[in-house]
Amino acid sequence: MANLVTSLCCVVLAAVVVAYAQRRSQLVARNQYERMGSDVTMQCGSLDNDASVSWKVNGTDVKAQHHLEGPRLVLNEVDLGHNGLYSCFQNPHGERRDTIYLHIGIPPRDPTVTCRSNTYPKGFYCSWHQLHPTYIPTTFEVDVQHNQRSLEVQKDPDHKNRCRVRFPEVFSSYPYKVNVTAVNALGKASTTISFEESSIVKPDPPERVTATPIRFNARRLEVSWQSPATWPDIDNFPLKYFLRYRPLIREQWQHVELSDSTSHTITDAYAGKEYIIQVAAKDTEIGTWSDWSVAVHATPWIEDPLPITSTTEVDFPTETKTSPIPSSNAPQKAEPPECCCCLCDVNVLFLKGVGGGRGGGGGGGGG
Ligand SMILES: *[C@@H]1O[C@H](CO)[C@@H](O)[C@H](O)[C@H]1NC(C)=O
Ligand SMILES: *[C@@H]1O[C@H](CO)[C@@H](O)[C@H](O)[C@H]1NC(C)=O
Repeated sequence: MANLVTSLCCVVLAAVVVAYAQRRSQLVARNQYERMGSDVTMQCGSLDNDASVSWKVNGTDVKAQHHLEGPRLVLNEVDLGHNGLYSCFQNPHGERRDTIYLHIGIPPRDPTVTCRSNTYPKGFYCSWHQLHPTYIPTTFEVDVQHNQRSLEVQKDPDHKNRCRVRFPEVFSSYPYKVNVTAVNALGKASTTISFEESSIVKPDPPERVTATPIRFNARRLEVSWQSPATWPDIDNFPLKYFLRYRPLIREQWQHVELSDSTSHTITDAYAGKEYIIQVAAKDTEIGTWSDWSVAVHATPWIEDPLPITSTTEVDFPTETKTSPIPSSNAPQKAEPPECCCCLCDVNVLFLKGVGGGRGGGGGGGGG
């Protein structure tokens, strides 16, 4: 007797658990991923073919082009507008039977992969990106091989699509093989690149570049900088530097290559001209030149210097190549004319335009 009661209890309990699980699966939305442009079928739970259901998306009746096949909703040529939360309700009582989150997307294409070592000889990093959006979550798997061995790959904490790898040895002649696979619910695609240690070495630009005039010397500028902080062993892996400078009014750069020195004196500056100066770095033996450092501006020492007004925004357009020391028009900007309305605005706009044009020129030089 006691046995029978226990068995009955078990059966009832099991039934309750099954019923609960079913209800739960009806209430919790599941994801369905579909390819853009395809015809999509959504099945309402596990209802039979003769079941009659109605569908809602985001809580309202489905308006998009569709038809019903019993418990199935068929959408034609879906696009992003079909994304949404779909629910089906069994007729005639309207009980909800299923909830589907429909995500329209595209399978990934081969990612673009580049690798670079700015921390030679410690390690290198690889970064990748997709040229085309996939509209659905896409993850990347990275595999790095060297001399028939898989290397440990670490996610970069600061950059999303980037990972870091330590060099297992220095001066290795074996190539590195990096395979990046993009994966999402609709497919996957991979890109493999292969390179030698020496070809990916590219330091970060030099830092803290300063240029200062030299007193009583109208043609000199003292330029100094520091090696990039990311370069780990400057003593054993020295860098050489490349300096370029030009007066703002000229397009043509002048260049100086320097081995192992972190300062240089420009001796041929035009008196009174404002200069723009940048520095790049490279390992003395391998790899490529860094990008240019942030541009610094400096003007050689001027006898009886004019009162210095903030920066340099105003003299540029009035200056010609033959003009001597530029007569500063800057104060005009500082004193807003006492006028009303539009004239002032015109002036302000003009001044802004000048500043922007110059900034753009400096940036272009950085490329
Ligand atoms: C449903 O709502 C989502 C987010 O609010 C929206 O992006 C989507 O277009 C809606 N879907 C439909 C079919 O209205
Ligand atoms: C790259 O990795 C993916 C995923 O692990 C794999 O399917 C593919 O064959 C690999 N490609 C190469 C060239 O090794």
